[in-house]
Amino acid sequence: LAGDEVLVVSNREPYIHVKTPEGVEVRRPASGLVTAVEAVMRACSGTWIAHGAGNADRDVVDAHGRVPVPPGHSSYTLRRVWLSKEEEQGYYYGFANEGMWPLCHIAHVRPIFRSSDWEQYVAVNRRFADAVVAEARTEDPVVLVQDYHFALLPRMVRERLPRATIITFWHIPWPNSESFGICPWRAEILEGMLGSTILGFHTPLHRRNFMDTVDRYLETRIEEEASTISYGGKLTQVQSYPISIAWPEAEAQTDSVPACRAAIRRELGLAPDHLLGIGVDRLDYTKGILERFQAVERMLERYPEMVGRFTFVQIAAPSRSSLDEYQNFEARVRSLVQRINVRFGSGGYLPIVLKAEHHEHEAVNRYYRAAEVCMVTSLHDGMNLVAKEFIAARDDERGALVLSQFTGAAMELHAALIINPYHIEQGAEALYRGLMMPAAEQAERMRSMRMLVRDFNVYRWAGRMLHDAARLRQRERVMS
Ligand code: G6P
Repeated sequence: LAGDEVLVVSNREPYIHVKTPEGVEVRRPASGLVTAVEAVMRACSGTWIAHGAGNADRDVVDAHGRVPVPPGHSSYTLRRVWLSKEEEQGYYYGFANEGMWPLCHIAHVRPIFRSSDWEQYVAVNRRFADAVVAEARTEDPVVLVQDYHFALLPRMVRERLPRATIITFWHIPWPNSESFGICPWRAEILEGMLGSTILGFHTPLHRRNFMDTVDRYLETRIEEEASTISYGGKLTQVQSYPISIAWPEAEAQTDSVPACRAAIRRELGLAPDHLLGIGVDRLDYTKGILERFQAVERMLERYPEMVGRFTFVQIAAPSRSSLDEYQNFEARVRSLVQRINVRFGSGGYLPIVLKAEHHEHEAVNRYYRAAEVCMVTSLHDGMNLVAKEFIAARDDERGALVLSQFTGAAMELHAALIINPYHIEQGAEALYRGLMMPAAEQAERMRSMRMLVRDFNVYRWAGRMLHDAARLRQRERVMS
């Protein structure tokens, strides 16, 4: 694809400009999608179109909403799209996050479908499609569409740029056809997505679910062998492409592991040999945070010698917090933490430390390096990049990963301690086992997981998709 034009579309922007008392600050959002795609964009340049959500976002752009990024060493253009309050409410909070998010994640939260949200979702997809067409300088750009916010956009772009190569990646799970079928606009969503040249999911299971869903609700021709769907005379290739992270350069780790261990324990007022568990998530009901804390509680109950010796630190970035479901969830998390802390805490000791605020990657990395165990207990998750980030951070080959079987990551990281997060006893045992794991076993498991994440990194993820796209472009050029 050398020389081809690359356009990315996502809801969340990679850099957010916010006003603070100290002036304008640039923040990186807590989003697995952004972490992954940003690394790729730095390497291949082009234009990234996203919703401008920061309160100082307008102050730094040109008349077309464009700003070169990353700040300080620009390698691509961020083109911001401004959404009105009503658009943001209906499209982002409403349809995307009260409809599609619970629809696609099995977390037993009932999706909400309002016609007014759907109307905004359609309208905002059209606005972003307009931005793609406006930004395109050639008639056959490569458009990388990200996630469930833009299910309709591929077809909208296809209608106006018929020669574009549209690669859509679905960063969250795809449910089975029966579950998906409750969506009142299921046919429109599927038709929209089938405007893509390539449609990517994290795992073969999600790919399978998508094929079954199309088979059930649309009149199409499906070629199982080739994994293609032919709809309205147009072919879409459906594949699984497990996402990953950029493997850190050796010199990227600023502080040594012993320095991080000591500093974090000092900051928390803990003894140098105090045992530490870490969890890093957005404060989201799909992440299994309540089940994780129950597992911590059960572990302390079963192994009373751990009381006073072990602390679990949870970093929880606030997310979508104007939605009822998220407010209720935060309240439940806080009250559970309080109950467990009252039950097992004493003096200055708290078994669970909840840090419900945004942390930059560097700060999170220090916790990864300081902890004995990292717990990823999602009830359902497309991939989960926290698991991979923890592994990448442990160049000392120490530490244990407790990982939910319902993440895409569990399909790859077989050397983790795999659990069913709903099974509290199992979570408690895995946590204890992780804390007690002999150094040699930690090293063996870490080594095999580190090799895998290093080799199957985010460039490989993007590379595979772009390679498949290049093949299809080549074929089309020969045929036309
Ligand atoms: C998930 C979604 C992303 C989203 C991220 C953060 O990873 O797949 O599309 O960006 O959550 O959520 P937010 O709503 O804050 O962008």
